[in-house]
Amino acid sequence: MKIGISFSLFIAIGITGCGQQQAAPVTEVNKEKTGEHQERDEPKERSMHGDHKHHHPFSNPAQQAKKWNNQERDKWQHPEEIVAALALRPGATVAEIGAGTGYMVAPLSNAVGRDGIVIPLDSSAEMIEYLIERSAELGPAKVLPKKVHAHDPELQPATVDAVLTLDTWHHVDSREAYAKKVYEALKPDGRFVVVDYNVDAEVGPPQSMRLAPERVVKQLEAAGFRVEVVKESMPRHYLVVGFKD
Ligand SMILES: C[S@@+](CC[C@H](N)C(=O)[O-])C[C@H]1O[C@@H](n2cnc3c(N)ncnc32)[C@H](O)[C@@H]1O
Repeated sequence: MKIGISFSLFIAIGITGCGQQQAAPVTEVNKEKTGEHQERDEPKERSMHGDHKHHHPFSNPAQQAKKWNNQERDKWQHPEEIVAALALRPGATVAEIGAGTGYMVAPLSNAVGRDGIVIPLDSSAEMIEYLIERSAELGPAKVLPKKVHAHDPELQPATVDAVLTLDTWHHVDSREAYAKKVYEALKPDGRFVVVDYNVDAEVGPPQSMRLAPERVVKQLEAAGFRVEVVKESMPRHYLVVGFKD
């Protein structure tokens, strides 16, 4: 019995999107829930969790893929709900910011089909190389991985039908400004879907980097989106949709 519990815990920690487990201080969780936190950068925590200048935690795709692309993840990540929120039609163009090792690329590719385009974006050159090498295996769509700067999705105005970011929004600096760039890149009726960890999830990024959905709503509204927090069944995540009406 004891072994079973330990093993389950190991699996849960091992396949989190960010590969970290946090014993969340209760006061931090409550501050987030009451919206007391102001929008700010967290240089100390960021340097330990995704600051590409210092620790390069996202520079080993083969290693990360064991966690991020683990099929067990589907049980709690519910990729089908994420795809549904994007409302993709056959032939659509969809970009993913922070695509990592491509956990969502094949589901996106299947949703847009052989006439569609998937543009996986990542600020890590290693992740993009990994995806380029595998793009033929990632479903029927045209898959065009692209390395981008951390502050810009580098998409042309009004060229994409939908944009997804999964477990990555908490890594992005100056989120309002970034969301404005996403807004510009979307065609009319386009959608920006942000999926990230609940502030009280038992696993995930450091507590101080987590974003309550209310904060994401404000960031997207400031960028021009009409925003809804969508009801879903993911146990660790929330899903926010920005509509470009
Ligand atoms: C926690 S991983 C999530 C990967 C993937 N979305 C998934 O859920 O499996 C975050 C990814 O976002 C990338 N990333 C971090 N900040 C970024 C930024 N500002 N722009 C683009 N990619 C970024 C990292 O290199 C990494 O591959």
